[in-house]
Amino acid sequence: MTVIYAHRGASKYAPENTLASFNKAIALEAGGIETDVQLTKDHAVVVIHDPTIDRTTAGRGKIKDYTLQELVALPNGKWFDPTFSDDKIISLKALLDWWKTTTIYLNIELKSHRYNDRGLVEETVKQLNTLKHLETLTLSSFNALYLKQVKALNPNITTGFLTKKQLSERTLRKHLDYIDGIHLHYKAFTTDYLKRVHGLGLYLYLYTVNDDVLFNDYLQTDVDGIITDDPTLRSSLGIDD
Ligand code: G3P
Ligand code: CA
Repeated sequence: MTVIYAHRGASKYAPENTLASFNKAIALEAGGIETDVQLTKDHAVVVIHDPTIDRTTAGRGKIKDYTLQELVALPNGKWFDPTFSDDKIISLKALLDWWKTTTIYLNIELKSHRYNDRGLVEETVKQLNTLKHLETLTLSSFNALYLKQVKALNPNITTGFLTKKQLSERTLRKHLDYIDGIHLHYKAFTTDYLKRVHGLGLYLYLYTVNDDVLFNDYLQTDVDGIITDDPTLRSSLGIDD
């Protein structure tokens, strides 16, 4: 089965990384959502992609220079469309409280902007440890050290290593103790690489696929997940599950 993840929620239809985009993903019958987290000035975890608030809010400045309380007061939907003016930045806790009420898979990317420290992993895992079911949750990152730390803190959490390029078998073997899968940029995908990744006992997800023809091509393979801004690409191809 290939799980279709809505990238930052259904971000083609609603402002990214808001409850509106996450709920839209459910409405569009995505199998999962992908989202991004970072550490705030007061070492809380907040759901946002960019290192600054500049693009998605009316404010300016780095996430690391704001407290959680300041960030969650910020509207972050108006940039997308005025109908989303009431949507705000949310905390990881708010995301998990929402997620607990759903059956959708969740893929949280631990953002690795230069200033982040490993407190991000500790605080995120601490919050995940309060959940009853972790089977449908993945923590992903471009930073292998984050994933190593995740496994050390809780070996039951699935970890996905994000990469823009195919990693050699030698490199993959180095990380095997603490990664469960690879999240590969779709342009680097080949069916041969899929076989090699599966041969090592790892799963393979592709990001971020917004072209309907390519989407269809990947669905014909054994790829385990596809991350897309538009989960309706599946139904536009007449595919129900
Ligand atoms: O999960 C893959 C993808 O989200 C990584 O790129 O920049 O959209 O976080 P980005
Ligand atoms: Ca991401």
